[in-house]
Amino acid sequence: MMRQLRPAGIWGTGMSVPEKILTNADLEKMVDTSDEWITTRTGIKERRIVAIDQATSDLAAEAGRKALLAARVDPLELDLVIVATVTPDVSFPATSCIVQMQLGADNAATFDLSAGCSGFVYALDVAVRAVESGAYDRVLVIGADVLSRITDWTDRSTCVLFGDGAGAAVVGPVGEGRGLLATDLGAVGAQGHYLTMPAGGSRRPPSLETIEGGEHYIHMQGNEVFKFAVRIMGETTKRSLAKCGLKPEDIDVFIPHQANIRIIEAARRRLDISEDKVFINVQLYGNTSAASIPIALDEAMRGGMIEPGDIVALVGFGAGLTWASAILKWGR
Ligand code: ACO
Repeated sequence: MMRQLRPAGIWGTGMSVPEKILTNADLEKMVDTSDEWITTRTGIKERRIVAIDQATSDLAAEAGRKALLAARVDPLELDLVIVATVTPDVSFPATSCIVQMQLGADNAATFDLSAGCSGFVYALDVAVRAVESGAYDRVLVIGADVLSRITDWTDRSTCVLFGDGAGAAVVGPVGEGRGLLATDLGAVGAQGHYLTMPAGGSRRPPSLETIEGGEHYIHMQGNEVFKFAVRIMGETTKRSLAKCGLKPEDIDVFIPHQANIRIIEAARRRLDISEDKVFINVQLYGNTSAASIPIALDEAMRGGMIEPGDIVALVGFGAGLTWASAILKWGR
Protein backbone atom coordinates (compact mmCIF):
# COMPACT_ATOMS: atom_id res chain seq x y z
CA MET A 1 0.00 0.00 0.00
CA MET A 2 1.35 3.48 -0.91
CA ARG A 3 1.89 5.67 2.12
CA GLN A 4 0.46 9.19 1.96
CA LEU A 5 3.29 11.76 1.75
CA ARG A 6 3.02 15.19 3.36
CA PRO A 7 4.25 18.26 1.43
CA ALA A 8 7.61 19.68 2.52
CA GLY A 9 9.43 22.87 1.63
CA ILE A 10 11.66 25.71 2.79
CA TRP A 11 10.77 27.54 6.01
CA GLY A 12 13.65 30.02 6.06
CA THR A 13 17.04 30.76 4.50
CA GLY A 14 20.37 32.27 5.54
CA MET A 15 23.83 32.97 4.16
CA SER A 16 27.35 33.83 5.21
CA VAL A 17 30.33 35.14 3.27
CA PRO A 18 33.76 36.17 4.59
CA GLU A 19 34.52 39.85 5.02
CA LYS A 20 37.60 39.99 2.82
CA ILE A 21 36.90 41.08 -0.76
CA LEU A 22 39.28 40.13 -3.58
CA THR A 23 38.65 42.29 -6.65
CA ASN A 24 39.64 41.76 -10.27
CA ALA A 25 42.13 44.61 -9.77
CA ASP A 26 43.72 42.59 -6.94
CA LEU A 27 43.98 39.56 -9.25
CA GLU A 28 45.66 41.67 -11.94
CA LYS A 29 48.56 42.03 -9.49
CA MET A 30 48.73 38.26 -8.84
CA VAL A 31 48.44 36.68 -12.32
CA ASP A 32 48.53 37.74 -15.97
CA THR A 33 44.87 38.71 -16.31
CA SER A 34 42.69 41.79 -16.61
CA ASP A 35 39.42 43.08 -15.22
CA GLU A 36 38.20 43.29 -18.83
CA TRP A 37 38.92 39.56 -19.53
CA ILE A 38 37.36 38.36 -16.28
CA THR A 39 34.28 40.57 -16.65
CA THR A 40 33.53 39.71 -20.26
CA ARG A 41 34.29 35.95 -19.94
CA THR A 42 32.68 35.35 -16.54
CA GLY A 43 30.72 38.38 -15.28
CA ILE A 44 32.67 38.27 -12.00
CA LYS A 45 33.91 41.55 -10.49
CA GLU A 46 34.86 40.41 -6.97
CA ARG A 47 34.73 37.41 -4.64
CA ARG A 48 35.02 36.78 -0.88
CA ILE A 49 37.98 34.95 0.66
CA VAL A 50 38.17 33.44 4.16
CA ALA A 51 40.54 34.69 6.85
CA ILE A 52 43.45 32.48 7.82
CA ASP A 53 41.59 31.07 10.85
CA GLN A 54 38.22 30.44 9.10
CA ALA A 55 37.05 27.11 7.71
CA THR A 56 33.99 25.78 5.90
CA SER A 57 32.16 24.91 9.13
CA ASP A 58 32.41 28.51 10.40
CA LEU A 59 30.60 29.89 7.35
CA ALA A 60 28.19 26.93 7.35
CA ALA A 61 27.23 27.42 11.01
CA GLU A 62 26.64 31.16 10.54
CA ALA A 63 24.44 30.58 7.49
CA GLY A 64 22.61 27.84 9.41
CA ARG A 65 22.05 30.11 12.42
CA LYS A 66 20.48 32.78 10.18
CA ALA A 67 18.24 30.22 8.43
CA LEU A 68 17.06 28.92 11.83
CA LEU A 69 16.24 32.48 12.92
CA ALA A 70 14.32 33.15 9.70
CA ALA A 71 12.42 29.88 10.11
CA ARG A 72 11.86 30.47 13.85
CA VAL A 73 13.27 27.04 14.68
CA ASP A 74 15.37 26.31 17.76
CA PRO A 75 18.57 24.32 17.03
CA LEU A 76 17.39 21.65 19.49
CA GLU A 77 14.31 21.04 17.31
CA LEU A 78 16.43 19.92 14.35
CA ASP A 79 16.34 16.19 13.51
CA LEU A 80 18.94 16.27 10.77
CA VAL A 81 21.75 18.50 9.52
CA ILE A 82 23.09 17.94 5.98
CA VAL A 83 26.15 19.86 4.77
CA ALA A 84 26.88 19.77 1.04
CA THR A 85 30.57 20.51 0.51
CA VAL A 86 33.68 19.47 -1.39
CA THR A 87 35.94 21.37 1.01
CA PRO A 88 35.25 19.81 4.44
CA ASP A 89 37.24 21.20 7.40
CA VAL A 90 38.94 17.78 7.62
CA SER A 91 38.26 14.36 6.05
CA PHE A 92 36.59 13.32 9.27
CA PRO A 93 34.70 14.07 11.41
CA ALA A 94 32.17 15.30 8.88
CA THR A 95 31.73 19.07 8.62
CA SER A 96 28.06 18.53 9.49
CA CYS A 97 29.14 17.14 12.89
CA ILE A 98 31.24 20.25 13.54
CA VAL A 99 28.31 22.45 12.51
CA GLN A 100 25.96 20.45 14.75
CA MET A 101 28.27 21.21 17.67
CA GLN A 102 28.63 24.89 16.75
CA LEU A 103 24.84 25.31 16.54
CA GLY A 104 24.05 23.21 19.61
CA ALA A 105 21.76 21.03 17.48
CA ASP A 106 22.23 18.18 19.93
CA ASN A 107 19.21 16.16 18.77
CA ALA A 108 20.15 16.09 15.12
CA ALA A 109 21.71 13.31 13.08
CA THR A 110 24.24 14.63 10.56
CA PHE A 111 25.98 13.79 7.34
CA ASP A 112 27.96 15.48 4.57
CA LEU A 113 27.05 15.17 0.93
CA SER A 114 29.46 15.63 -2.00
CA ALA A 115 28.01 16.65 -5.35
CA GLY A 116 30.10 19.73 -6.19
CA CYS A 117 28.11 22.82 -7.05
CA SER A 118 24.93 20.70 -7.36
CA GLY A 119 25.33 19.70 -3.70
CA PHE A 120 22.77 22.05 -2.18
CA VAL A 121 19.97 20.94 -4.51
CA TYR A 122 20.93 17.28 -3.98
CA ALA A 123 20.76 17.85 -0.21
CA LEU A 124 17.48 19.75 -0.49
CA ASP A 125 15.98 16.79 -2.36
CA VAL A 126 17.13 14.36 0.36
CA ALA A 127 15.81 16.66 3.12
CA VAL A 128 12.42 17.09 1.51
CA ARG A 129 12.04 13.32 0.96
CA ALA A 130 12.94 12.77 4.61
CA VAL A 131 10.29 15.23 5.80
CA GLU A 132 7.68 14.10 3.25
CA SER A 133 7.96 10.54 4.52
CA GLY A 134 7.31 11.65 8.10
CA ALA A 135 10.64 10.24 9.27
CA TYR A 136 12.03 13.72 10.06
CA ASP A 137 10.29 16.99 10.93
CA ARG A 138 12.92 19.69 10.67
CA VAL A 139 16.07 19.44 8.55
CA LEU A 140 18.82 22.03 8.15
CA VAL A 141 20.36 21.93 4.67
CA ILE A 142 23.60 23.84 4.12
CA GLY A 143 25.75 24.34 1.03
CA ALA A 144 29.21 25.56 2.05
CA ASP A 145 32.58 25.69 0.36
CA VAL A 146 35.94 27.34 0.83
CA LEU A 147 37.39 26.80 -2.63
CA SER A 148 40.10 29.41 -1.98
CA ARG A 149 41.93 26.70 0.00
CA ILE A 150 42.15 24.37 -3.01
CA THR A 151 42.72 27.05 -5.65
CA ASP A 152 46.08 27.41 -7.36
CA TRP A 153 46.59 31.16 -7.05
CA THR A 154 49.19 31.06 -9.85
CA ASP A 155 46.77 29.50 -12.38
CA ARG A 156 44.84 32.30 -14.09
CA SER A 157 42.48 29.86 -15.82
CA THR A 158 40.90 28.87 -12.48
CA CYS A 159 41.84 31.38 -9.75
CA VAL A 160 39.68 34.17 -11.15
CA LEU A 161 36.52 32.05 -10.98
CA PHE A 162 36.02 31.01 -7.37
CA GLY A 163 35.02 32.46 -3.99
CA ASP A 164 34.06 31.28 -0.49
CA GLY A 165 30.65 31.21 1.21
CA ALA A 166 27.76 29.28 2.68
CA GLY A 167 23.99 29.27 2.29
CA ALA A 168 21.35 27.39 4.25
CA ALA A 169 17.67 26.48 4.35
CA VAL A 170 15.44 24.94 7.01
CA VAL A 171 13.12 22.31 5.54
CA GLY A 172 9.85 21.31 7.20
CA PRO A 173 6.23 20.34 6.43
CA VAL A 174 4.28 22.97 4.45
CA GLY A 175 0.68 23.55 3.39
CA GLU A 176 -0.99 21.49 0.67
CA GLY A 177 0.17 22.43 -2.86
CA ARG A 178 3.30 24.21 -1.59
CA GLY A 179 6.92 23.20 -1.14
CA LEU A 180 9.07 21.11 -3.41
CA LEU A 181 7.07 20.07 -6.46
CA ALA A 182 9.74 18.16 -8.40
CA THR A 183 13.45 17.59 -8.83
CA ASP A 184 15.76 16.17 -11.46
CA LEU A 185 19.16 14.99 -10.23
CA GLY A 186 21.84 13.19 -12.15
CA ALA A 187 25.49 12.57 -12.84
CA VAL A 188 27.78 11.54 -15.65
CA GLY A 189 30.69 10.00 -13.78
CA ALA A 190 32.53 9.28 -17.02
CA GLN A 191 33.17 13.04 -17.31
CA GLY A 192 34.35 13.47 -13.73
CA HIS A 193 37.95 14.03 -14.81
CA TYR A 194 37.00 17.41 -16.31
CA LEU A 195 36.77 18.89 -12.81
CA THR A 196 38.74 17.28 -10.02
CA MET A 197 41.20 17.59 -7.15
CA PRO A 198 43.46 14.67 -8.09
CA ALA A 199 45.27 13.99 -4.78
CA GLY A 200 44.56 13.89 -1.07
CA GLY A 201 42.27 10.84 -1.03
CA SER A 202 42.85 7.08 -0.96
CA ARG A 203 43.87 6.92 -4.65
CA ARG A 204 46.69 9.43 -4.28
CA PRO A 205 47.38 10.18 -0.64
CA PRO A 206 49.33 13.34 0.15
CA SER A 207 53.06 13.08 -0.54
CA LEU A 208 55.89 15.39 -1.50
CA GLU A 209 55.26 14.38 -5.12
CA THR A 210 51.54 15.25 -5.06
CA ILE A 211 52.24 18.58 -3.42
CA GLU A 212 55.02 19.50 -5.83
CA GLY A 213 52.74 18.51 -8.72
CA GLY A 214 49.97 20.83 -7.50
CA GLU A 215 47.58 17.89 -7.24
CA HIS A 216 45.77 19.31 -4.22
CA TYR A 217 44.36 22.11 -6.31
CA ILE A 218 41.28 22.30 -8.54
CA HIS A 219 42.06 20.94 -12.01
CA MET A 220 39.50 21.89 -14.59
CA GLN A 221 38.99 21.67 -18.34
CA GLY A 222 36.90 24.84 -18.38
CA ASN A 223 35.62 24.56 -21.96
CA GLU A 224 34.35 20.98 -21.41
CA VAL A 225 32.56 22.00 -18.18
CA PHE A 226 31.18 25.01 -20.04
CA LYS A 227 29.67 22.87 -22.84
CA PHE A 228 28.19 20.44 -20.31
CA ALA A 229 26.72 23.27 -18.24
CA VAL A 230 25.07 25.09 -21.12
CA ARG A 231 23.37 21.90 -22.32
CA ILE A 232 22.35 20.47 -18.95
CA MET A 233 20.93 23.63 -17.32
CA GLY A 234 18.13 23.84 -19.86
CA GLU A 235 17.54 20.08 -20.10
CA THR A 236 17.28 19.43 -16.36
CA THR A 237 15.02 22.43 -15.75
CA LYS A 238 12.63 21.21 -18.46
CA ARG A 239 12.63 17.68 -16.96
CA SER A 240 11.80 19.01 -13.47
CA LEU A 241 9.06 21.24 -14.84
CA ALA A 242 7.54 18.37 -16.83
CA LYS A 243 7.40 16.18 -13.69
CA CYS A 244 5.07 18.70 -12.02
CA GLY A 245 3.12 19.63 -15.14
CA LEU A 246 4.69 23.08 -15.60
CA LYS A 247 6.44 24.89 -18.45
CA PRO A 248 9.34 27.40 -18.53
CA GLU A 249 6.86 30.28 -18.80
CA ASP A 250 5.40 29.25 -15.42
CA ILE A 251 8.68 30.08 -13.63
CA ASP A 252 8.45 33.29 -11.57
CA VAL A 253 12.02 33.27 -10.23
CA PHE A 254 14.93 31.40 -11.84
CA ILE A 255 17.91 30.85 -9.54
CA PRO A 256 20.83 29.31 -11.44
CA HIS A 257 24.20 28.23 -10.10
CA GLN A 258 26.34 31.36 -10.22
CA ALA A 259 29.39 30.06 -12.10
CA ASN A 260 29.56 32.27 -15.13
CA ILE A 261 27.25 34.94 -16.57
CA ARG A 262 27.57 33.42 -20.06
CA ILE A 263 26.36 30.01 -18.83
CA ILE A 264 23.43 31.67 -17.03
CA GLU A 265 22.56 33.71 -20.11
CA ALA A 266 22.73 30.64 -22.41
CA ALA A 267 20.43 28.70 -20.07
CA ARG A 268 18.02 31.62 -19.85
CA ARG A 269 17.80 31.82 -23.65
CA ARG A 270 17.31 28.07 -24.08
CA LEU A 271 14.43 28.22 -21.63
CA ASP A 272 13.16 31.51 -23.08
CA ILE A 273 12.83 33.09 -19.62
CA SER A 274 12.72 36.90 -19.43
CA GLU A 275 15.74 38.60 -17.86
CA ASP A 276 13.78 40.10 -14.95
CA LYS A 277 12.99 36.60 -13.62
CA VAL A 278 16.64 35.54 -13.35
CA PHE A 279 18.52 36.23 -10.12
CA ILE A 280 22.22 37.04 -10.63
CA ASN A 281 24.90 37.84 -8.04
CA VAL A 282 27.92 36.19 -9.69
CA GLN A 283 29.51 39.66 -9.99
CA LEU A 284 29.77 39.87 -6.18
CA TYR A 285 30.82 36.37 -5.09
CA GLY A 286 32.13 34.42 -8.11
CA ASN A 287 31.51 30.69 -8.09
CA THR A 288 31.04 29.62 -4.46
CA SER A 289 30.36 25.97 -5.39
CA ALA A 290 27.69 24.33 -3.17
CA ALA A 291 26.98 27.71 -1.54
CA SER A 292 26.12 29.49 -4.78
CA ILE A 293 22.43 28.51 -5.12
CA PRO A 294 21.44 28.94 -1.44
CA ILE A 295 23.24 32.31 -1.25
CA ALA A 296 21.38 33.44 -4.37
CA LEU A 297 18.11 32.09 -2.96
CA ASP A 298 18.62 33.94 0.32
CA GLU A 299 19.50 37.22 -1.42
CA ALA A 300 16.52 36.88 -3.78
CA MET A 301 14.25 36.23 -0.78
CA ARG A 302 15.55 39.10 1.32
CA GLY A 303 15.58 41.41 -1.69
CA GLY A 304 11.82 40.88 -2.11
CA MET A 305 12.10 39.07 -5.45
CA ILE A 306 10.26 35.97 -4.17
CA GLU A 307 6.63 36.17 -2.99
CA PRO A 308 4.54 33.41 -1.41
CA GLY A 309 2.94 31.31 -4.17
CA ASP A 310 5.77 31.97 -6.66
CA ILE A 311 7.19 29.14 -8.72
CA VAL A 312 10.93 29.13 -8.00
CA ALA A 313 13.38 27.08 -10.07
CA LEU A 314 16.82 26.19 -8.70
CA VAL A 315 19.32 24.70 -11.15
CA GLY A 316 22.96 23.78 -10.91
CA PHE A 317 25.81 21.68 -12.28
CA GLY A 318 29.18 20.80 -10.89
CA ALA A 319 31.94 18.33 -10.08
CA GLY A 320 30.95 14.74 -10.75
CA LEU A 321 29.95 15.85 -13.27
CA THR A 322 26.57 16.32 -11.62
CA TRP A 323 23.44 18.31 -12.25
CA ALA A 324 20.37 19.12 -10.19
CA SER A 325 17.22 21.16 -10.58
CA ALA A 326 14.29 21.73 -8.27
CA ILE A 327 10.91 23.39 -8.69
CA LEU A 328 9.32 24.91 -5.57
CA LYS A 329 6.04 26.62 -4.93
CA TRP A 330 7.16 29.17 -2.37
CA GLY A 331 5.50 29.45 1.03
CA ARG A 332 5.18 27.65 4.31
N1 ACO B 1 42.92 36.09 -17.87
C1 ACO B 1 43.33 36.29 -19.13
N2 ACO B 1 43.38 35.30 -20.05
C2 ACO B 1 42.98 34.09 -19.65
C3 ACO B 1 42.53 33.81 -18.35
C4 ACO B 1 42.51 34.87 -17.43
N3 ACO B 1 42.10 34.73 -16.16
N4 ACO B 1 42.20 32.52 -18.27
C5 ACO B 1 42.39 31.98 -19.47
N5 ACO B 1 42.90 32.93 -20.33
C6 ACO B 1 43.25 32.80 -21.72
C7 ACO B 1 43.57 31.38 -22.10
O1 ACO B 1 44.93 31.11 -21.84
C8 ACO B 1 43.29 31.39 -23.60
O2 ACO B 1 44.38 31.95 -24.26
P1 ACO B 1 44.88 31.33 -25.67
O3 ACO B 1 43.71 31.50 -26.60
O4 ACO B 1 46.07 32.17 -26.01
O5 ACO B 1 45.19 29.90 -25.38
C9 ACO B 1 42.11 32.37 -23.72
O6 ACO B 1 42.11 33.14 -22.51
C10 ACO B 1 40.77 31.70 -23.89
O7 ACO B 1 40.65 30.66 -22.91
P2 ACO B 1 39.39 29.74 -22.85
O8 ACO B 1 39.60 28.71 -21.80
O9 ACO B 1 39.02 29.28 -24.23
O10 ACO B 1 38.28 30.79 -22.37
P3 ACO B 1 36.75 30.57 -22.25
O11 ACO B 1 36.05 31.61 -23.03
O12 ACO B 1 36.37 29.13 -22.47
O13 ACO B 1 36.49 30.88 -20.71
C11 ACO B 1 36.17 29.83 -18.58
C12 ACO B 1 37.14 30.13 -19.72
C13 ACO B 1 35.68 31.16 -18.02
C14 ACO B 1 36.89 29.04 -17.53
C15 ACO B 1 34.96 29.04 -19.15
O14 ACO B 1 35.41 27.93 -19.88
C16 ACO B 1 34.04 28.55 -18.06
O15 ACO B 1 33.39 29.33 -17.37
N6 ACO B 1 33.91 27.22 -17.88
C17 ACO B 1 33.04 26.64 -16.89
C18 ACO B 1 33.77 26.64 -15.60
C19 ACO B 1 32.90 26.34 -14.43
O16 ACO B 1 31.79 26.83 -14.34
N7 ACO B 1 33.44 25.57 -13.53
C20 ACO B 1 32.87 25.35 -12.29
C21 ACO B 1 32.06 24.12 -12.28
S1 ACO B 1 31.22 24.01 -10.83
C22 ACO B 1 32.14 23.32 -9.52
O17 ACO B 1 31.82 22.23 -9.10
C23 ACO B 1 33.31 24.12 -8.96
